[in-house]
Amino acid sequence: MYRLTLVADLALAVRDLRKSFRTPFARKKIEALRGVTFEVQKGHIFGFVGPNGAGKTTTIRTLMGLIKPTSGSATILGRTVPSRAARERVGFLPESPYFYDYLTVPELLDLVGRLFGIPGPERKKRADELIERVGLSRARTQNLKKFSKGMLQRAGLAQALMNDPELVVLDEPMSGLDPIGRKEVRDLILSLRDAGKTVFFSTHILSDVEAITDRVAIIARGQLQASGTPAELVAQSVQAVDITIRLTGEAGDLTAGADQVRRHEDELSLSLPASADVDAWLAKAHAAGAKVISVAPRHETLEARFLREVASAEAVP
Ligand SMILES: Nc1ncnc2c1ncn2[C@@H]1O[C@H](COP(=O)(O)OP(=O)(O)OP(=O)(O)O)[C@@H](O)[C@H]1O
Ligand SMILES: [Mg+2]
Repeated sequence: MYRLTLVADLALAVRDLRKSFRTPFARKKIEALRGVTFEVQKGHIFGFVGPNGAGKTTTIRTLMGLIKPTSGSATILGRTVPSRAARERVGFLPESPYFYDYLTVPELLDLVGRLFGIPGPERKKRADELIERVGLSRARTQNLKKFSKGMLQRAGLAQALMNDPELVVLDEPMSGLDPIGRKEVRDLILSLRDAGKTVFFSTHILSDVEAITDRVAIIARGQLQASGTPAELVAQSVQAVDITIRLTGEAGDLTAGADQVRRHEDELSLSLPASADVDAWLAKAHAAGAKVISVAPRHETLEARFLREVASAEAVP
């Protein structure tokens, strides 16, 4: 299939990535990635969702040039991975980040700024801004050793933004955070997109994905199971049609084949199966003197879709 999108217009392009691990103890080969292909448009927030062991971190580590894929290729902002050019414009938050215990946040950011060659005054200005932005102002003088999991995650986010990256890659940015912290990270991700950046993040928290992403890919057992906008992923599956009508007389055969039938005085609500002929049903209701109050398709939730995709991936031997 030919596509008009040039690789240079994409924030990320991943082509048939495969990675097997051979561990010294287990003789068996672990196929962590079994042909992963996807693209991330510039300016999007992209959610990479999958259960434990799905291959999210392996994909991200490959993109960051930390491990070499068995086969396949990737580009970041049009540049081949791994390369210095690709890495320069990317901010990266590793999974469970570990930093030097005896540094403070300003010291950590200063160190990261030096690695990126940011000049002194600019380095300090950026560090101060970021410390404020991730909500660590009151912990400026504390050693990272004393930080809670959530605070470390914030420090990790700040260091990922130190080089003012065009693309931000975050491996489980909400992990270890309480609901308020998660909301703050979601807002931070949204503000990055508002500033024209691209954000690629992995997670298994589906409510976070549903709330902020432009596109989602579901990965399980080293393969993409589904991808699209969150709305597309759920809209493909209307599960039922919920109807409420006002009716004074008997419901008669209007309830035949319906589910969750409830009658409260002259209000009747019920669910028709997705396969039902809703128009025919409504015509019958009108003929019985009913007034239609609401007709709403009920979609599968993103969580249900996720669980279904994971279950079907697990079912393959
Ligand atoms: N260095 C390694 N050596 C051997 N196996 C590995 C290595 N890294 C990952 N794996 C295996 O590859 C598979 C995918 O792991 P990966 O860490 O990518 O999953 P994940 O989707 O990030 O999971 P989680 O949600 O738990 O972070 C797992 O079966 C894991 O055990
Ligand atoms: Mg992981």
